[in-house]
Amino acid sequence: MSDQEVKAESRVFPPPAAFAATAAISGMDAYNALCAEAAADYEGFWAKLARENLHWHKPFTTILDESNAPLYKWFDDGLLNVSYNCLDVNIQKGLGDKTAIIFEADGGDVTKVSYQDLHAKVCQFANGLRSLGVKKGDRVVIYMPMSVEGVVAMQACARIGATHSVVFGGFSAKSLQERIVDVGATLVITADEQVRGGKQLPLKAIVDEALGLGDCEKVSKVVVYKRTGGNVPFDAVRDLWMHELVADQATQCEPEWVNADHPLFILYTSGSTGKPKGVQHSSGGYLLWAMLTMKWTFDIKPNDVFWCTADIGWVTGHTYITYGPLAMGSTEIVFEGVPTYPNAGRFWDMIQKHKATIFYTAPTAIRSLIKAADGDPAIHPNKYDLSSLRLLGSVGEPINPEAWMWYYKNVGGERCPIADTFWQTETGGHMITPLPGATPLVPGSCTLPLPGIMAAIVDETGADLPNGQGGILVVKRPWPSMIRTIWGDADRFKKSYFPEELGGKTYLAGDGAIRNKDTGYFTITGRIDDVLNVSGHRMGTMEIESALVANPLVAEAAVVGKPDDTTGEAICAFVVLKRARPTGEEAKQIALELRNWVAKEIGPIAKPKEIRFGDNLPKTRSGKIMRRLLRVIAKGEEITQDVSTLENPAILDQLKQAQ
Ligand code: PRX
Repeated sequence: MSDQEVKAESRVFPPPAAFAATAAISGMDAYNALCAEAAADYEGFWAKLARENLHWHKPFTTILDESNAPLYKWFDDGLLNVSYNCLDVNIQKGLGDKTAIIFEADGGDVTKVSYQDLHAKVCQFANGLRSLGVKKGDRVVIYMPMSVEGVVAMQACARIGATHSVVFGGFSAKSLQERIVDVGATLVITADEQVRGGKQLPLKAIVDEALGLGDCEKVSKVVVYKRTGGNVPFDAVRDLWMHELVADQATQCEPEWVNADHPLFILYTSGSTGKPKGVQHSSGGYLLWAMLTMKWTFDIKPNDVFWCTADIGWVTGHTYITYGPLAMGSTEIVFEGVPTYPNAGRFWDMIQKHKATIFYTAPTAIRSLIKAADGDPAIHPNKYDLSSLRLLGSVGEPINPEAWMWYYKNVGGERCPIADTFWQTETGGHMITPLPGATPLVPGSCTLPLPGIMAAIVDETGADLPNGQGGILVVKRPWPSMIRTIWGDADRFKKSYFPEELGGKTYLAGDGAIRNKDTGYFTITGRIDDVLNVSGHRMGTMEIESALVANPLVAEAAVVGKPDDTTGEAICAFVVLKRARPTGEEAKQIALELRNWVAKEIGPIAKPKEIRFGDNLPKTRSGKIMRRLLRVIAKGEEITQDVSTLENPAILDQLKQAQ
């Protein structure tokens, strides 16, 4: 079925009756009642939820502090500890022997860790970190593979009030160094190597390289988890093995009670300008929303086996691997590797083997697995027993109706609702998503905001737009899990997310959206800034351009996105060299060199799929690059826009032909 057919069909999938019967939010009346409760007494609504769901060492007395808006604070005079809420609270509830994590390694080895085991590991590591002098407020960079130890490292930081900043293991030494410097880390936690698709890839060596790039003098220790036992360089003074550090540590560790707004983590993400921004999240408000969205969106129940396939290097891995499921006392699957190794049936095999009940993945993965299943019937989901599944989720990018239908039919057996969850690094957790026991589903729409989330669509002046008219997606009221600031740059925070044009108090998501005329359902229409979304990974065009122009061959570069069947968007770079425009084999050779260069500068995920060389770039008379024209060229479409303001219109033909 093509996208067009699905749209024309506009089928609606009501929640299955059996699902609705036991769901946390059952039926639209229950949803509407919660929304009405939030509208009637906004602070009271959140305060009640925060009291009911979190363990407070000292209760809060203030709810929302708007005195320094938009630097909002939530529940800030309350004291709590995130790790205590995730581990100790569940053990006290009698879940000590329950499996917290089912870990499956790249080669298929499975390790199960109970809540009691996890508590002991976290405490030992937290004590180990304390013994190295790490204390509340210190920043710790985590550059680790998907592993139990990765989760332990994050939870251990939380336990002692250290703020972690996880850097995805696919980022380059340079990207890692920039983050270490910006966040002011004093300690780095890494592994000797990581394993992906049967290959051993370096981590420790990249940390060494990053620290050697300069300005990292504050990093006094590097703790190394031994994943592969590969031969890695070791600095006898600076480096320590994780297993040696924890060997003699006690399995109890008094948590550091922190104020609710204490920064739990800083996670870097791309914006439209400048270097990646350190999105600072809180402890109390963040954890509250991680828990509530587990309840509301995923309808988590005690017997569920929850599987989020994200990496802990992204926000999805933070909220729906390290914090949300554990705070709910759930059993979750954590996997190392890639969905296509040992073959593209890995996800289906793991669901079958571990009897996953809730499966949460990205549209890119679904699209690539559709292709793989079409090519090899032996790894089609219908060859596996997926009957344990009761709910599916999608995250990170728009899911096209065709992929939605395939997911619904072939993975969910037409029985599992799909939660198409729209959210962002900055929002901490889901914002707009169907509720599986309430919301009738429409493929391709993330449907309605969660209760308490005041999402709206406005024009450039901040005026509300009627349903049916596309505009800018905003959130009109602060919510507990929202970004608190950009680390070290409150001005940039205000300008990026609370622009004066919108009144300075409305959160600007950076996406366009439209609401259906009849249902009011939201559809996200894509970023309104220069941010690309490639395979669900967020990247700023400017970052990639800066990487390209840092190459000695390159004079100028402009990067745009173009639609891609598998990755959603693909990176297309237009490049002017300092020497004559290359053609033929030479062009291919230099393009390859530049792609590898970008991988080295940022990471393989930022490699342009396509590089086109020109004598120049299309510019206005004032010298501004006309990216909208480049977008049209990248798509292979005819230019119908006005090009009269262009200084060098002839360049368009050259770029159209250049490959
Ligand atoms: O453009 C939206 C898209 O991903 C962006 C956020 O990316 P990031 O901060 O990396 O977080 C990804 C994981 C939450 C958004 O601004 N996006 C995310 N989810 C969806 C989406 N676009 C459409 N539908 C979604 N469900």
